[in-house]
Amino acid sequence: MEMIRQGAEARLYSTTFHGRSCIVKERFSKSYRHASLDAKLRQKRTSQEVRALLRCRKAGIRTPVVYFVDNDSCKIYMEKLDGCTTLRDFIVARAGVDFEHVAVALGDLVSGLHNNDVIHGDLTTSNVMIDSETNELRVLDFGLSLMSNLAEDKGVDLYVLERALLSSHPQTEHLFQIILDTYKKRVKKSDEVIAKLDEIRMRGRKRTMVG
Ligand SMILES: Nc1ncnc2c1ncn2[C@@H]1O[C@H](COP(=O)(O)OP(=O)(O)O)[C@@H](O)[C@H]1O
Ligand SMILES: [Mg+2]
Repeated sequence: MEMIRQGAEARLYSTTFHGRSCIVKERFSKSYRHASLDAKLRQKRTSQEVRALLRCRKAGIRTPVVYFVDNDSCKIYMEKLDGCTTLRDFIVARAGVDFEHVAVALGDLVSGLHNNDVIHGDLTTSNVMIDSETNELRVLDFGLSLMSNLAEDKGVDLYVLERALLSSHPQTEHLFQIILDTYKKRVKKSDEVIAKLDEIRMRGRKRTMVG
């Protein structure tokens, strides 16, 4: 297996699984954490990720196919998304280009997640990939996900996306507005979620003002 990435929580390897190109995501142990607590946390994140991946696949939301899970070593073997780049790299490489169609697609994607009560937990442009040929989006990295129908949880998910988008990609306020407009059209009771989002934004602002 060839290691392709070392993150804060996980290592990613590229390999094959019964002839198919495969990514192995391994949540490694952190020596500074108490050993049994550490194992529990890694196992929890692994199972949350697998649960959300399966739920999305069932709902027709494009995510990598799960091939195999090794619970003891916290490894997920999944389909490698070939011909895809992260949305982050895609946007950075095309500075100045109009991303309105991508924003609509992202709005559709988040709507699909929330209509199925999947809260992603870490919606960033590094956790969404785009197919270079079809421009279709895929979503991954569900280790912080949860299942919830609460407007509050959905509002937090949108807030995380807004912060991530604006901090990684300057001058994208209009893109987030397109995401929200799409969301309003597609999600039941989206007005409750948007009201929560506004509330969370206010809290965030107060916090920075108080410092
Ligand atoms: N199934 C996959 N196919 C292709 N690339 C992947 C796949 N899973 C992860 N990656 C790449 O590895 C990066 C890190 O994976 P991710 O699951 O987001 O872990 P981390 O917790 O380290 O952020 C992603 O941003 C993406 O570039
Ligand atoms: Mg990630």
